[in-house]
Amino acid sequence: MKEKILVTGGTGYIGSHTVVELQNSGYEAVIVDNLSNSSLDVLDGIASITGVKPAFEKIDCCDLQGLETVVKKYPDIKAIIHFAASKAVGESVDKPLLYYRNNLLSLLNLLDLMNKYNIPNLVFSSSCTVYGQPDTLPVTENMPVKPAQSPYGNTKQIAEEIIQDAARADKRLKSVILRYFNPVGAHPSAAIGELPNGVPNNLIPFVTQTAAGIREYLCVFGNDYNTPDGSAIRDYIYVVDLAKAHIAALERLLANGSRQDVEFFNLGTGKGLSVLEILDEFEKATGVKVKRKIAGRRQGDIEKVWADPALANRELGWKAETATQDMLISAWKWEQKSNIVKR
Ligand code: UD1
Repeated sequence: MKEKILVTGGTGYIGSHTVVELQNSGYEAVIVDNLSNSSLDVLDGIASITGVKPAFEKIDCCDLQGLETVVKKYPDIKAIIHFAASKAVGESVDKPLLYYRNNLLSLLNLLDLMNKYNIPNLVFSSSCTVYGQPDTLPVTENMPVKPAQSPYGNTKQIAEEIIQDAARADKRLKSVILRYFNPVGAHPSAAIGELPNGVPNNLIPFVTQTAAGIREYLCVFGNDYNTPDGSAIRDYIYVVDLAKAHIAALERLLANGSRQDVEFFNLGTGKGLSVLEILDEFEKATGVKVKRKIAGRRQGDIEKVWADPALANRELGWKAETATQDMLISAWKWEQKSNIVKR
């Protein structure tokens, strides 16, 4: 029988790509999502790729009773991959309580139920934002966590601490905490991808929307950073590569292969690209020009960050493999398809 994995936020951007990889690897995914930032159509997208429509429960993870009903309905859940969270940095500054409630109450509820129903394995989505602007690059997992720059970032730091404390108190609990760098792109089939609600927050949806003519130009936030071309540098990782890392993390937990009760892994490519380099790569890959304007730095942005993914490469047996241009082509394909759907 296929092992059942509960995926919270499974209709979201990274969640949906992970459900595809779970199903492709022979697992049965049970999705819990409140659809606050995703849609039921994603289930059809997943089914069109894998041939299987995953089980779905429309539940908010902050609703303990609702969540408990799901855990009772599927008594043989082997692990939980927890994506469900609010993720817009700017919004978190305006609505901090919403962010603390959504991102932390949901985790507390899950941990309570994991304890009560003896579900020992948790894969948690964290972010490279916990490192702030690191003193040296590339960033390894043992570099210090810096004071958070936003309530969103703070929820990731507090969540990491909550998981560690919970694992100290409950020896059954094992967790792999994945610190994502900048996830980009969409499934190569263009059946699932990122669905920004309203104005996007991240660079790549801005790039593709500008290329599609939805926006007049892209603002390059800052050209006076201490980087070779003056624009800020990030480590952009393809969402399908990222999704595959979750399967590797899950299998490590299921095989009892962890060295510690809670482990941390950086998920990045190890290569930093500037905003201008991304625009360049996009134009080369798609042949479409992206109009841009140099704007001032965006508040709260750091200058440069990229991962040292060696630990994940070695311990998870996983590596980000997709070339930058392929990631960007997938994002462009997805943009064109979602434009057609919108029309
Ligand atoms: C942001 C969050 C981070 C979160 C991540 C999720 C901040 C400070 N950090 O990272 O916590 O985990 O998203 O993906 O918001 N840029 C432009 N023009 C644009 C949009 C972006 O030049 O229109 C630049 C940004 O200044 C930055 C780079 O592109 O240098 C990447 O930006 P973005 O995609 O928003 O990601 P981060 O800010 O790195």
